Amino acid sequence: MAGFLEGKAIAVTGAGGGIGRACALACAAEGARIVVADIGVGLAGEDPKSEVADAVVKEIEADGGEAVAVAEDVSKMAGGERIIGAAMDRWGRIDGVVAVAGILRERMLFNMSEDEWDAVIATHLKGHFTVFRQAAAIMRKQESGSLIGFTSGAYAGSVAQANYSAAKGGIVSLVRSAAAGLYRYGVRANAIAPVARTRMSANVPMELADMGEPEDVAPMVVYLLSDAAKDVTGQVYTVVGGRISVWNQPAEVRTMSTEGRWKPQDIAARFEEVGQERMGLIDRLDAMRQAAASGEKPNA
Ligand SMILES: NC(=O)c1ccc[n+]([C@@H]2O[C@H](COP(=O)([O-])OP(=O)(O)OC[C@H]3O[C@@H](n4cnc5c(N)ncnc54)[C@H](O)[C@@H]3O)[C@@H](O)[C@H]2O)c1
Repeated sequence: MAGFLEGKAIAVTGAGGGIGRACALACAAEGARIVVADIGVGLAGEDPKSEVADAVVKEIEADGGEAVAVAEDVSKMAGGERIIGAAMDRWGRIDGVVAVAGILRERMLFNMSEDEWDAVIATHLKGHFTVFRQAAAIMRKQESGSLIGFTSGAYAGSVAQANYSAAKGGIVSLVRSAAAGLYRYGVRANAIAPVARTRMSANVPMELADMGEPEDVAPMVVYLLSDAAKDVTGQVYTVVGGRISVWNQPAEVRTMSTEGRWKPQDIAARFEEVGQERMGLIDRLDAMRQAAASGEKPNA
């Protein structure tokens, strides 16, 4: 029986470990040819090595699949060019890009260094741009293709991850912009917010209510890359264990208006007409602080 992704050429960044590796293996098992892109860094982006990408290529080949390793840094334009170029050189096409590469440098905003900010934004947000930009130019001409970004629930806000959270929010906006800009060319863009047991999630200081394995995330990635999802674009999906949830599209929810320009005093007098949208995270933090004060291990 033909695989779900038979004949497609797909580049997966961060494919040397964790969720990226699971996605690369699942895509290959469905008949896709894979660019395994990873520079094999530590969790904070240190100590690059090419062996991790090579090892995943060997796994794919051992299962009878076809893959090429590219040990390039996704945060560099030249890296993005070489990753997408590897698919073009070998297979003459690029049908999907799955941008999974990522690092963590956690710090409270008031202690965060410029380097911690820059490295996380460069790896995650620019690391999506470099491969998406390169692939989009080809997919536009092909009039087909599927871009998949990796965001996080942290895009809605996070405590000690201003850099990561900002990058993940940027990825959602990048994906929505790609979906809007490429729609007329038949090219799609979606994002996954995963939760899975990897070295990255191992340090979360609280017990997550939901937890799954990297292999639980891969089937949704395969689906979004496939022709079965040809009408799905501009979406964000949480994937954890056996749960898949779709996020809403941001929209204004209430308005108040005045003739001409507002005076601050009038805004103060009528503010309740627009009011605030309660930030669920702040409520959860309150509950966690209370639980911690009473000696319980907090749940997120
Ligand atoms: N694990 C989770 O629960 C979770 C939750 C939310 C979001 N995410 C996101 O999912 C993605 C995958 O996370 P994971 O848990 O599998 O992480 P991981 O640390 O296991 O894997 C990340 C991979 O990216 C590679 N990488 C890092 N910087 C790179 C660069 N500049 N160029 C090329 N490769 C690079 C690393 O070498 C590593 O193999 C990340 O974007 C992460 O932010 C994960």
